[in-house]
Amino acid sequence: FNTIDDLDLDGKVVLTRVDVNVPVENGQVTDATRIEKIVPTVKDIQAKGGIPVLLAHFDRPKGKRVDSMSLKIVIPALEKALGQPVKFADEAIGGPAKRAVADLKAGDVLLLENTRFYPGEETNDPTFAASIAALGQAYVNDAFSAAHRAHASTEGIARLLPAAAGRLMEAELKALDAALGAPQRPVVAVVGGAKVSTKLELLSNLITKVDHLVIGGGMANTFLVAQGIEVGKSLAERDMADTASKILADATGAGCTIHLPVDVVVAREFKAGAENETVAADACPADAMILDAGPETVTRIQSVFEQSRTLIWNGPLGAFEIQPFDMATNAAAQIAARLTREGKLISVAGGGDTVAALNKAGASDDFTFISTAGGAFLEWMEGKELPGVAALQKR
Ligand code: 3PG
Repeated sequence: FNTIDDLDLDGKVVLTRVDVNVPVENGQVTDATRIEKIVPTVKDIQAKGGIPVLLAHFDRPKGKRVDSMSLKIVIPALEKALGQPVKFADEAIGGPAKRAVADLKAGDVLLLENTRFYPGEETNDPTFAASIAALGQAYVNDAFSAAHRAHASTEGIARLLPAAAGRLMEAELKALDAALGAPQRPVVAVVGGAKVSTKLELLSNLITKVDHLVIGGGMANTFLVAQGIEVGKSLAERDMADTASKILADATGAGCTIHLPVDVVVAREFKAGAENETVAADACPADAMILDAGPETVTRIQSVFEQSRTLIWNGPLGAFEIQPFDMATNAAAQIAARLTREGKLISVAGGGDTVAALNKAGASDDFTFISTAGGAFLEWMEGKELPGVAALQKR
């Protein structure tokens, strides 16, 4: 695909799809990471003489104007990140958008209102895509984290204008390719989270690609059940046990070693500070639930990480949001961070919960790459083609 370097942007209005779908509390952006990550793209477009007009969605207004989902809310954080004022048009198409674009001067940045206020965005309506495209002369997509959506502003428009990937999109794709496309082997994947059923495609794809698969979180319990182990009151999807057995069998055939917990931390209550004990993975009392992996499991994970050259991580290993059940996730994150710092491991992670867990463990700064994507990262790990990326391929 093209990058910003391949397009002639001088004097052009560059429709720039960004993902500024950030967490907000009481009208304030609480984590501006996604906003900060688009700065290089905006600056590079300006350096090439282009005027960036930012296209973005915010939340899920479902095709209607919802005032609380106006993109106005991100303007202060955007201005702070860019170090300049940001103009705003309270429509994404039509007269107000056209007038705002017509008023632009070199050096300006304009933000258009939430593209999801229009029904044509999510249906990828060609007429809506054409109305946005008509505002500019080039298109840059820097929203990897929205690339799993085939929407007008991520997919349709890329077919109507000279199109390129922005810097963040480039960096995401490069890091992900280094992790699963042409990785340094052995590759270890860590997959955690609550349910096997939500990550079935992910597990099925990974066993064909990676050398080691560490399974943690609630989904590990389902794998224990599949091996005939009693897990008491633990979260487990008993109806998925056959599926889990098949994944275990297929992994062996594919040359992938699956690592399940060998010891677990159990408690009778799901709450912070709950009284708990560490037992063997097959010794969960009938009235208790597994909330974390134990120290022996962490030692084994450490040894797998030490044997590996590339790590890809999605999902926490335990109930990391409540202490002390964040022990295994924190410990594994810190081991990965140290090995990365020492130049022994290439580490890539993504997914909202995962990034929160790695931040909490103080490990994210050391990781080779932390994706800004949640759903898109997962779909990419599942081996799916992302429509927003596919639409950027050179034609
Ligand atoms: C995200 O937050 O993961 C992206 O902005 C995509 O949002 P969506 O899941 O509402 O499409």
